Amino acid sequence: MTDLSAQNRTARVIVITGAAQGLGRAYVMRFAKEGYRVVAIDLQTDALNQVALEVKALGATCLPLTVDVSDVSSVEQAAIAIEREWGSCDVLVNNAAIFSTITMRPFEDIPVDEWVRVLSVNITGTFLMTRALVPLMRRNKWGRVINVSSAAFLMGRPNYLHYTTSKAAVVGMTRSLARELGPDGITVNALLPGATDTEVPRGTVTPEQKRQQIAMRCIQREEGPRDLEGVVSFLASDDSAFITGQSLVVDGGYCFL
Ligand SMILES: NC(=O)c1ccc[n+]([C@@H]2O[C@H](COP(=O)([O-])OP(=O)(O)OC[C@H]3O[C@@H](n4cnc5c(N)ncnc54)[C@H](O)[C@@H]3O)[C@@H](O)[C@H]2O)c1
Repeated sequence: MTDLSAQNRTARVIVITGAAQGLGRAYVMRFAKEGYRVVAIDLQTDALNQVALEVKALGATCLPLTVDVSDVSSVEQAAIAIEREWGSCDVLVNNAAIFSTITMRPFEDIPVDEWVRVLSVNITGTFLMTRALVPLMRRNKWGRVINVSSAAFLMGRPNYLHYTTSKAAVVGMTRSLARELGPDGITVNALLPGATDTEVPRGTVTPEQKRQQIAMRCIQREEGPRDLEGVVSFLASDDSAFITGQSLVVDGGYCFL
């Protein structure tokens, strides 16, 4: 069992999926520094444990859980573990996705099993995690669900149709869930990042495409995790209490909703 200080027993609990690397990892570190109790969820156990060690080195609290967000029983076991360990869940960041491993290709070349897997993780994973953790939020009549979509869907970026389709679905889910959960004091919003550099290399944006995207931004520079962390922090906070069902584009002013 995790050793909880008196302060940690009252701190809000945030669950972040896709927490082993990239943006999810950055959100974990941000919320740990803000004093939340962080549940870090991912498939990659070794990397997750490393993240948890780094959080503990900050003097903060982290519960790493190896979970496949697209698997019903894996998600339900995670919800049981969170309730057992900390008894509550205040904020859920549905960040896990099949993203950096995607190979860009014309839509008719996407293997059907890859299509199904991307939709299963990116859409069904968001549904399952929300379904499993909303009961804990309902108890307190307070909660925040932050669903990570992508500005790539607004741009209609070609050559990863399963990915853009999944990120469009996340916006639809966000709107309907906001209506279902508003009476329980739970807000549901979508975050739409632009192409963001992390420590993880990927082939979804070529150097030339990156230059073109930056040229199209109002703020013409690279986007990094720090451009997103504060926005997620705001959406998780009391200050965003009257914002729900919204899609927040954070891309330096490339796409306008
Ligand atoms: N980085 C960008 O440019 C960018 C832009 C727009 C949106 N996004 C979105 O932001 C989120 C994070 O992006 P990133 O760059 O950190 O991606 P990433 O690919 O580096 O990280 C995704 C994480 O999700 C985990 N994951 C994948 N399948 C999982 C599963 N079934 N169960 C649990 N965990 C699983 C992976 O192990 C990985 O740690 C994603 O939703 C992505 O679509 C990223």
